[in-house]
Amino acid sequence: MASYETVKSVVDFLKTKVDAAPQVAIICGSGLGTLAEIVTDKTTIKYEEIEQFPKSTVAGHAGNLVFGKLGGKDVVVMQGRFHPYEGYPMSHVTLPIRVFKLLGVEIIIVTNAAGGLNPEFAVGDMMIIKDHICMPGMTGMNALVGKNEERFGTRFPNMQNLYTKDLRELAKKVAEELEITKYLREGIYCAEIGPTYETPAEARFLRMIGADAVGMSTAHETTIAKHAGMKVFAMSLITNKVVLDEESNVQTNHKEVLETSAKRAEIMKSFVERLVECV
Ligand code: HPA
Repeated sequence: MASYETVKSVVDFLKTKVDAAPQVAIICGSGLGTLAEIVTDKTTIKYEEIEQFPKSTVAGHAGNLVFGKLGGKDVVVMQGRFHPYEGYPMSHVTLPIRVFKLLGVEIIIVTNAAGGLNPEFAVGDMMIIKDHICMPGMTGMNALVGKNEERFGTRFPNMQNLYTKDLRELAKKVAEELEITKYLREGIYCAEIGPTYETPAEARFLRMIGADAVGMSTAHETTIAKHAGMKVFAMSLITNKVVLDEESNVQTNHKEVLETSAKRAEIMKSFVERLVECV
């Protein structure tokens, strides 16, 4: 886990660059980084400028921290995120979440691209995350493994209502207002480390244990946020249907994931903007 001192040193650095006290932090998933375009009064800080940050290495992830205004609120947007499959330890991958906490962020909104496991889901659906199954967390790679930092939170944090019910209800109202409920789903997100997509046998296993969508991010970030007492909202864009049958000719690939994200980017942007306005 990132130590208090490391987190504080990043915050001190950011304060030399930007005079901001964001209330809301937004993490953009694969191909969804264009959300930062609608932020006004922007100050953009490249991850490279932040000595303690890992570097984003994935296509579709820009690598900027964007401070500014969205929906009438002060926000900070992560344009591109870090993933454990890039080879970074959980402490590095989740460092930005603790930075947000010390900056005064109270609400974190997380988006990701995910594969749909629920047979009723279509490509392009937007799934409000109701709860998660963190496979790495349950098998030794929980983001909170290591010495607990009491200044952030307790040793044995409760993970009920991690995905804050009030925010999920609000998101449903926003979707109604924007007339996008036909794309809206709610379900269980399963996190895996990747970078391989799951085998059909693994996919059937994940479906069997109750997952509606699967991806390679989010759960470790939201775990750190919940530990630190932040309210969390997360949404998966279903970019592909996960293949459940060994005999299928369909092949999941990153290009398809990015194409679906690009198609839904406008709707996702309006949705997140209105949600931020309403929180
Ligand atoms: N599996 C895992 N992660 C993903 C997928 C998938 O099918 N699609 C987008 N991210």
